[in-house]
Amino acid sequence: MTYDLKGKHVLVTGGSAGIGAALAEGFAARGATVGICARRTDRLNEVLERCRTHAPESRAWTVDLADLDGLDAFAKRAADELGGIDVLVNNAGIPKRRPVQQLTTATVDELMRINYLSPVHLTLALLPGIVEREGRIVFVSSVAARLSPPSEAAYAATKAAISAWAECMKVDLRDTGVGIHVVYPGVIDTELFHLPGNDPLPKTGVEMLPVDAMVEPVLGAIENDRFEVSVPDWFERVFEGKYKDVGAFLEGTINFVRTQQ
Ligand SMILES: NC(=O)c1ccc[n+]([C@@H]2O[C@H](COP(=O)([O-])OP(=O)(O)OC[C@H]3O[C@@H](n4cnc5c(N)ncnc54)[C@H](OP(=O)(O)O)[C@@H]3O)[C@@H](O)[C@H]2O)c1
Repeated sequence: MTYDLKGKHVLVTGGSAGIGAALAEGFAARGATVGICARRTDRLNEVLERCRTHAPESRAWTVDLADLDGLDAFAKRAADELGGIDVLVNNAGIPKRRPVQQLTTATVDELMRINYLSPVHLTLALLPGIVEREGRIVFVSSVAARLSPPSEAAYAATKAAISAWAECMKVDLRDTGVGIHVVYPGVIDTELFHLPGNDPLPKTGVEMLPVDAMVEPVLGAIENDRFEVSVPDWFERVFEGKYKDVGAFLEGTINFVRTQQ
């Protein structure tokens, strides 16, 4: 084990529900003090209560992470109140399942703001402190970043952007002692699939996993210094297959979509 989470201070964005809530509880169970943030105070408080059974100093903040102008102040407040941040988990995000022909520029901008610009701004605001503490930064991307799924151009592009950012950060921070990790969830059973304004999920046959399936792979990646982790891990073989012949992979996707129409 190269990184011990016990006693560390971990900030998880989007900790009110889904993957973020499960990760927050997982960190607390490892003995880390957890800070969670999102827009829904009532849901944050439910998660906070569960975290505090393991880590009584854990905290929650109600914040809209789409408000980029407020992120510096939020970062300072969270770091001050948590007593410094060792691990930042950029998890908050929103989906968009809608074909390109039906996308507006406003929708594309909104997705980019929440899924890409917000984690990047928060990361830059917290980076000096994380460098000082030789901490860890996790970016929750998506298999969509690598698999060009139908009707997910706006979403997949934000996730591809955050993956590229994380890869370059790892290179630039090579001499700092800071660890960077990227997470590629597949299909995880959360509210993300029930939010309004999205087409239904196509029937791909990919099994929907419970949120608990995320916890050990993500915490294990941090502890064992693994840069990337996909859940389930067989997605890594699908990525490899795609990059052998991207054109053929996209033709296969098109044929699959036609069978669904
Ligand atoms: N579920 C999957 O299969 C899957 C697959 C690939 C990638 N992912 C990624 O995993 C991450 C977590 O998603 P999830 O599946 O757990 O979805 P979720 O259950 O909908 O949770 C999303 C979280 O993000 C928060 N959030 C969204 N917009 C926010 C904003 N403007 N300000 C602050 N918080 C905001 C939500 O809290 P509030 O609503 O309370 O603000 C919630 O806590 C996302 O980045 C998503 O893209 C999920």
